[in-house]
Amino acid sequence: MIKQVGVVGAGTMGFGIAFQFAINGVKTVLCDMSDDTLSVAKDKFVIYLKIFRDQGYSITLSDKEVLSCISFTTSLNDVADSDFIIESVSENLPLKQKIFEELDAICKPETILASNTSSLRLSEITKNVEKHKDRVMLTHFFNPAHIVPLVELLRTKETNEEVFAEVKAFLEENNKTTIEVKKEVSGLVANRIQTAMAREALSLIEDGVVSENDLDTAIFNGPGFRFSSSGLLKIMDFGGLDIWDITIRELQSKIESTDRSYSAIARRIESGALGVKTGKGFYNYPGKGFDDYVMERDTDLIQHLLSRNPKLREKGAMKI
Ligand SMILES: NC(=O)c1ccc[n+]([C@@H]2O[C@H](COP(=O)([O-])OP(=O)(O)OC[C@H]3O[C@@H](n4cnc5c(N)ncnc54)[C@H](O)[C@@H]3O)[C@@H](O)[C@H]2O)c1
Repeated sequence: MIKQVGVVGAGTMGFGIAFQFAINGVKTVLCDMSDDTLSVAKDKFVIYLKIFRDQGYSITLSDKEVLSCISFTTSLNDVADSDFIIESVSENLPLKQKIFEELDAICKPETILASNTSSLRLSEITKNVEKHKDRVMLTHFFNPAHIVPLVELLRTKETNEEVFAEVKAFLEENNKTTIEVKKEVSGLVANRIQTAMAREALSLIEDGVVSENDLDTAIFNGPGFRFSSSGLLKIMDFGGLDIWDITIRELQSKIESTDRSYSAIARRIESGALGVKTGKGFYNYPGKGFDDYVMERDTDLIQHLLSRNPKLREKGAMKI
């Protein structure tokens, strides 16, 4: 039974993962090699507790109780007692391999070890794990991990089915929605689809079919609008599979399938316009810092979450 969670890496994802468990009263140990990062994560706990409550998200524990569920450490040894550990350090294969080797050596035999990697292969990351070979898996959260429900799950050939089922049930108890990825493919499922969409969007811009502005307007008010109420296959059911069949046949050979690079991104990278973090990307982000923009986005996303899942809403809380 999972009673204590360890999260290794307290950056963007590690913070969100730890927050998600702590607000549900799960004892959580958050580990990072950087004191500064831990201090930022600590502050974010307080900030996000207020944001969640202000938005009407139901957290039955008091702030004091939530904060007593979370501890911060720079020592991997402090997570060793955990029943379930999620590695969420920087996307670097040798680093992740080293952490899994260390965890394999220091954790109790029952500990389940998971990686949150987006692009590295789980089988590579865990190739030197011995004692916990049947207790490793992948749990891929979506940013912001404390708000977006989806977690993609992947097992290795050796993963024990009971371990897999236990993690799945535990995540769902903690208000996450899981899917099983049945084969180890790059990008798993949702990121592959998202990347396919980005490639087609950039290709249409590159070829002068649509302006950048209109592209975003189309996504937000067309497919994105529908996606906020149902998944893709249900959308296909409503459209009629015979109609979709014709559309796919007609377009499949015409949509982007090359690996060319796109000037809309390349020239911005060259000029240092990397997006919100540099104040400029496709759009301008003036006057406020990165964190302010992220919190604004997250406030919107919490409202969206509560509208999709009203049981997370504080009883009597007004819809904002
Ligand atoms: N950012 C995303 O949108 C996103 C989404 C899903 C999955 N992921 C995956 O999650 C993981 C973390 O991504 P992130 O965006 O949170 O990165 P990040 O750079 O924000 O955080 C990584 C953290 O790992 C810490 N770290 C590095 N070496 C360490 C060590 N030896 N011991 C302890 N801590 C160490 C760093 O100090 C840093 O705080 C990556 O594998 C990434 O692919 C990211």
